[in-house]
Amino acid sequence: MENLEQEVVSMPRIGDPAPEFKAVTTQGDINFPSDYKGKWAILFSHPADFTPVCTSEFMTFAHLEDKFNEANCELIGLSIDGLYSHIAWLRTIKEKIEYKGMKDIEVTFPLIEDIKMDVAKKYGMIQPNEDSTKAVRAVFFVDPKGIIRAIIYYPLSLGRNFDELYRALIAMQAADEFGVATPADWRPGDDVIIGPAGSCGTAKDRMEDSEIDCKDWFFCTKKLDKDTVLDKVLKKK
Ligand code: BEZ
Repeated sequence: MENLEQEVVSMPRIGDPAPEFKAVTTQGDINFPSDYKGKWAILFSHPADFTPVCTSEFMTFAHLEDKFNEANCELIGLSIDGLYSHIAWLRTIKEKIEYKGMKDIEVTFPLIEDIKMDVAKKYGMIQPNEDSTKAVRAVFFVDPKGIIRAIIYYPLSLGRNFDELYRALIAMQAADEFGVATPADWRPGDDVIIGPAGSCGTAKDRMEDSEIDCKDWFFCTKKLDKDTVLDKVLKKK
């Protein structure tokens, strides 16, 4: 019976158009995803301002922002705190917090105020069995056409791995640019996976192609030079 009373929230999925919203942020109003057309966007939520794990994450995101921007990707944060709390927290981070060699960190990407949880509910960021009054640590990767391409959720106690967020972004861009897939733990410079025979050549063509390494008919890789990947991905901006 209790379940029947629970509010229905939407959980966007990979491949869905990113749900649209207008929001007030620390950098002015935004229209998502239309303001980000032609760019990748990482929309991420955090549980609350003035909390330690979130502070470590915001400092790390701000520290890495240029790197994400160079890969044609903009960052947008969200919590269900208000604008003045966001402003005070970001000012405290800049003025007082030194962490892992990072200090004087200014967060210049937008942080959405979402007191009514409108955006958080649209994006399935409120997961009541974890916490009904805070957003979990959600990460939505939205591509330049406004399509959700990857989603990662973390619980409140677990700070995100920023190497993985950046790795996932570059891997998805490489997959789009070169029509390949990327294997476990792939990083630029590692071999990539090519599609099944028929999509580009027969199985026999492949076995005879010295640039293709087929471990079996269903598992073929080829080299993709690190500079080729990075030139294409980082110069697309
Ligand atoms: C934190 O960011 O430290 C945090 C926030 C909410 C719950 C637990 C930890």
